Amino acid sequence: MKKVFIIANWKSNKTEPEAKEWLQTLNDLQFAINKEEKEIIICPPFTLLSFVKQSIVKSQLLLVVGAQNISQFDEGAYTGEVNGKQIKQFADMVLIGHSERRSNFDEDDKILEEKVKMAKKYNMTPVYCVQNKDDKVPSGVSIVAYEPVSAIGTGNPDTPERADQVAKYVKDHAQVAVVLYGGSVTKNNVMEFTRMSNIDGVLVGGASLNAKEFYEIIQNA
Ligand code: PGA
Repeated sequence: MKKVFIIANWKSNKTEPEAKEWLQTLNDLQFAINKEEKEIIICPPFTLLSFVKQSIVKSQLLLVVGAQNISQFDEGAYTGEVNGKQIKQFADMVLIGHSERRSNFDEDDKILEEKVKMAKKYNMTPVYCVQNKDDKVPSGVSIVAYEPVSAIGTGNPDTPERADQVAKYVKDHAQVAVVLYGGSVTKNNVMEFTRMSNIDGVLVGGASLNAKEFYEIIQNA
């Protein structure tokens, strides 16, 4: 049986009290997972990394913390940036190349390659997002998330069959072992994606903001 990865990408949402409630709800639902079968990763905004990490340790929740971004620069005079050494205090994974970063912040292949290097320098696993099957994937990337732009936040997911074909293509061409699908994943459609042979999990945006819905996604995946 393959291991399924389920990532919650909170994007630019939630305050500390809201994160506390989310984690409490997950805890109350008797959140228990078999780590051999499912790996659950929470990517809160930078302001909540410390709080989420501490809460997970305290409540012994089986969650991994990821960041949503990483600076391409190391520590130094880069006002407003958050670097790999800082992120590694709390996170073991990091999203790189999300389409919202590419389009709103002009992150191109060169910058994204630097970001992957930084993640690896600080021993974090990059989850590299691509929007098309032929998008360049920097070397050293172990996990790719395929997220077609037309599916992100639209309620209009890709078909599982097409997503599976892209996942296979990426595995064959970019030599990555794990490919996830993202874009309008919900509790109702998650299984259609995770049951495909080349898809190893999902990256969930909007539907991860509600703890109960996210819990059901985990159950159904
Ligand atoms: P969505 O976002 O689930 O809200 O479509 C996915 C993502 O952007 O990672």
